[in-house]
Amino acid sequence: MSAVIVAIDGPSGTGKSSTSKAVASALGLSYLDTGAQYRAITWWMLTNGVPVDDAEAVAAASGKPVIVSGTDPAAPAISVDGADASGPIRTQEVTAAVSAVSAVPEVRARITDLQRSIAAGAAGGIVVEGRDIGTTVLPDADLKVFLTASPEARASRRSGELKGKDASDVSTTREALIKRDQADSSRKTSPLKKADDAVEVDTTELSLEQVVECVVTLVENAA
Ligand code: C5P
Repeated sequence: MSAVIVAIDGPSGTGKSSTSKAVASALGLSYLDTGAQYRAITWWMLTNGVPVDDAEAVAAASGKPVIVSGTDPAAPAISVDGADASGPIRTQEVTAAVSAVSAVPEVRARITDLQRSIAAGAAGGIVVEGRDIGTTVLPDADLKVFLTASPEARASRRSGELKGKDASDVSTTREALIKRDQADSSRKTSPLKKADDAVEVDTTELSLEQVVECVVTLVENAA
């Protein structure tokens, strides 16, 4: 496959990460998890005592951490100042703080630059997943996909990932997801939004294998 650039956006729990990794593996492409980068900068801020609800303090600190993203879909590690942050960035504390940090324009400018340089350096092509890839980061991507799913399906998938299987966990997860999506969709700088030329795929009734098959076909037709 030539150096195709694929942008996969959508809200949390739509299967973006699993789909993006599987599509990249199937087609021999690199993979970039941009949410992990926003989580990494958020984790660094929390660890270094930056008040994450203070946009000025977040902006002032946004250039400090050195974030390096792995692009192997089989093992997409991320490091911050040389230390592996793949585990710490998935904590609830980071999840609760990430939307405030990612809404700060200085943070977005810095992480967007990083994303563009990684995509430009991926000689064999890349799948980039996030919220604003098709609209802002890579508006000339060869294929843009926007994944959706019902709030119930998203909450139950995310809850399964968190290994909390009872009903209260699903409803707590549902509330948290909706709150994060509202924050991500309503921020001023590059909000979560479907690009006009993106193909929308509703994954509510589809298995992961079906979504992957659908996106692989879309990539093959676009390349
Ligand atoms: O994809 P994930 O749930 O790990 O993303 C974490 C958060 O990072 C999102 O809720 C959003 O605030 C932010 N994000 C973003 N733009 C992206 C990817 C993620 O603002 N391209």
